[in-house]
Amino acid sequence: MSPTLFVLLIFVSLLIRCNGEITQLVHDPDMEGLHQSWKCRAHCTLTPSHDAHTGKTSLLVTNRGSINDGLSQSVNLTPNGRYNFTFYVKLLNLTTGNMYDMVQATLACSNANHIKFGQERYTRLNHWTKVGGVAHAPADTSGCFIRVQVSDIHADHVIDDVSLVAVPNITDWRAEANERIESIRKSNITIRLTGAEPNANYEIELYQTKHEFAFGSAISATQFIDPAYSHYQHAFYENFEWAVLENDLKWQQMERRQGHIHSTEAMATLKSLNASGIKVRGHNVFWGVDLHTPTWVTTLSQHDLQVAMDNRINNVVAMARNYVRHWDVNNENLHGDFYEQRTRDPNITMKMFSSVHKVDPNALLFLNDFGIMENNVAQSLRNQAMLFKSAGVPIHGIGIQSHLHKMDLDITAMKARLDTVAEAGLPIWITELSVETTNQTVRASVLRDVMTLYFSHPAIKGILLWGFWNGRIYNTTAALFEGPNVQPNAAGLMYQELFKTTWRTNVTLPVHGNGDVTVRGFQGVYKVTVKKSDKELTNQYVSVIDDKAIVLDISGLSAPAIVG
Ligand SMILES: *[C@@H]1O[C@H](CO)[C@@H](O)[C@H](O)[C@H]1NC(C)=O
Ligand SMILES: *[C@@H]1O[C@H](CO)[C@@H](O)[C@H](O)[C@H]1NC(C)=O
Ligand SMILES: *[C@@H]1O[C@H](CO)[C@@H](O)[C@H](O)[C@H]1NC(C)=O
Ligand SMILES: *[C@@H]1O[C@H](CO)[C@@H](O)[C@H](O)[C@H]1NC(C)=O
Ligand SMILES: *[C@@H]1O[C@H](CO)[C@@H](O)[C@H](O)[C@H]1NC(C)=O
Ligand SMILES: *[C@@H]1O[C@H](CO)[C@@H](O)[C@H](O)[C@H]1NC(C)=O
Ligand SMILES: *[C@@H]1O[C@H](CO)[C@@H](O)[C@H](O)[C@H]1NC(C)=O
Ligand SMILES: *[C@@H]1O[C@H](CO)[C@@H](O)[C@H](O)[C@H]1NC(C)=O
Ligand SMILES: *[C@@H]1O[C@H](CO)[C@@H](O)[C@H](O)[C@H]1NC(C)=O
Repeated sequence: MSPTLFVLLIFVSLLIRCNGEITQLVHDPDMEGLHQSWKCRAHCTLTPSHDAHTGKTSLLVTNRGSINDGLSQSVNLTPNGRYNFTFYVKLLNLTTGNMYDMVQATLACSNANHIKFGQERYTRLNHWTKVGGVAHAPADTSGCFIRVQVSDIHADHVIDDVSLVAVPNITDWRAEANERIESIRKSNITIRLTGAEPNANYEIELYQTKHEFAFGSAISATQFIDPAYSHYQHAFYENFEWAVLENDLKWQQMERRQGHIHSTEAMATLKSLNASGIKVRGHNVFWGVDLHTPTWVTTLSQHDLQVAMDNRINNVVAMARNYVRHWDVNNENLHGDFYEQRTRDPNITMKMFSSVHKVDPNALLFLNDFGIMENNVAQSLRNQAMLFKSAGVPIHGIGIQSHLHKMDLDITAMKARLDTVAEAGLPIWITELSVETTNQTVRASVLRDVMTLYFSHPAIKGILLWGFWNGRIYNTTAALFEGPNVQPNAAGLMYQELFKTTWRTNVTLPVHGNGDVTVRGFQGVYKVTVKKSDKELTNQYVSVIDDKAIVLDISGLSAPAIVG
């Protein structure tokens, strides 16, 4: 074979492989070519740079005049198509006073609003940062170009490894999800009898009393300890195994006036949940969105703010120690940087994690944010979690709120966003699930679908609803239970079907003599009962989180004689 033919063959086979897998829709994606396809949208200067993320070169962007100026490339996209647009950026300098900067991955087209694929609020100096994500092209894709938008117009930056690829539909997401559920949420449980009568027939009943996966809801402390709301409390205990106080532990609610700490209802509720065996998430120590900061805190000097923050941690975290298993440390940090700005410390949230950990070393500490499942901050949440991990911060989990407003679920995009967050290698919890729609039939089917997706994702360890009863919920169009008797509506019945039946194991199997049975059942706590002729001989509670073999000795136990 001639060398030319050989090279050609390799080239053709590479081309075929590219088509079979992922086709890049941008030219010169790794900035190693002649760079002719890359343009400055409006005003800026592009120069090849050896400061590369991979390979030999990247592109340096300088001399910008506005936020709309920057690196861009024209692209041909399918109307409404689903795409994944990402790049790596490194800021080389920042206007004095900026600790970090917002960088966005956007698509601009002639006849449509800009579409945002990703945003990174905390892009730091001299640090390669991945920005982007999955979004849909508009209905009219004429004159489209992708664009890198850096908010600080004086921040020179280098860009490398751009990627724009189509994200095809998952063919049968439900079948795939159910396969994953079968494989990750269940274990093999073997029960063997000893001491049995050799020729007798027995029955072994396995009834799952608790789930290993967390199913829970937000509640209100005020109603939870008020005897007038006994139906509300009863419905909670019937349907959930985890709780989170919706508002009662928030700084704004607990300390409206500095030094006047109100915790009566919250503590009473935490104690009664504990006594009933309900596990609790703590929400939240801080909430860095200006609107949700206590008013008196917003007027403090930098020094007094630091003191107030230390007091807050020493107070609420110590108070709730032994009662909460998790803390959301600085709620919605991707959407609010009150504490970073006021302390002038870009690492203040990491320091909060360390301080909370000192006061309660047993609590698992979480980031908790919104805009992940329907919008464009999945990549940013992943970046933050990975930065915290690599800095040695005690971070143990990632909370995805999941308030859903769009009822035509894009499961493919949602799964892609979960996978992106899961790259951080931390457990994910769905912390505030809500399905907001007035149509209860739609609410029920959307709830079923998202819960199926979440329950099937290997990184996800729990799902907590953001309230369940229309008498006590932030928006009644998300309720699962209604009226004075707290009865399930269509969405509540759907939830109960999943929680009580579809994802719970309850089987009875025959055993002959000292035989055994194996059941593949959902992980959790089981009551195992041995019966003979319908009469209970013995029972035992066992916890199943992995494959498990249990030997039950029934020697000396016999059912009462059957008369007749
Ligand atoms: C960054 O450096 C460039 C070149 O030295 C300069 O033109 C630009 O003004 C600097 N930007 C800031 C924010 O200092
Ligand atoms: C992908 O799924 C959406 C919604 O289910 C559907 O409208 C669209 O036609 C599908 N696209 C392809 C290429 O199958
Ligand atoms: C568990 O059970 C499944 C199905 O019943 C079976 O295919 C699998 O081999 C079992 N695994 C072990 C480790 O026994
Ligand atoms: C209740 O509190 C005790 C300690 O006071 C703790 O050991 C136990 O785990 C708590 N129960 C639950 C369900 O969190
Ligand atoms: C913030 O933390 C990062 C990661 O540990 C570190 O590289 C950086 O120097 C810190 N920045 C400041 C201003 O302390
Ligand atoms: C999007 O593209 C980036 C860069 O190739 C890749 O790392 C990421 O996994 C992709 N995400 C999805 C959801 O396809
Ligand atoms: C409640 O949800 C509905 C959608 O079902 C929405 O139209 C309405 O604005 C929401 N109300 C509030 C107060 O957020
Ligand atoms: C609710 O949605 C279902 C399914 O889309 C539809 O058939 C029904 O007409 C809707 N009900 C109302 C009251 O809009
Ligand atoms: C378990 O299943 C049996 C039928 O197989 C049913 O009679 C019983 O009510 C179930 N138990 C519970 C608590 O659902």
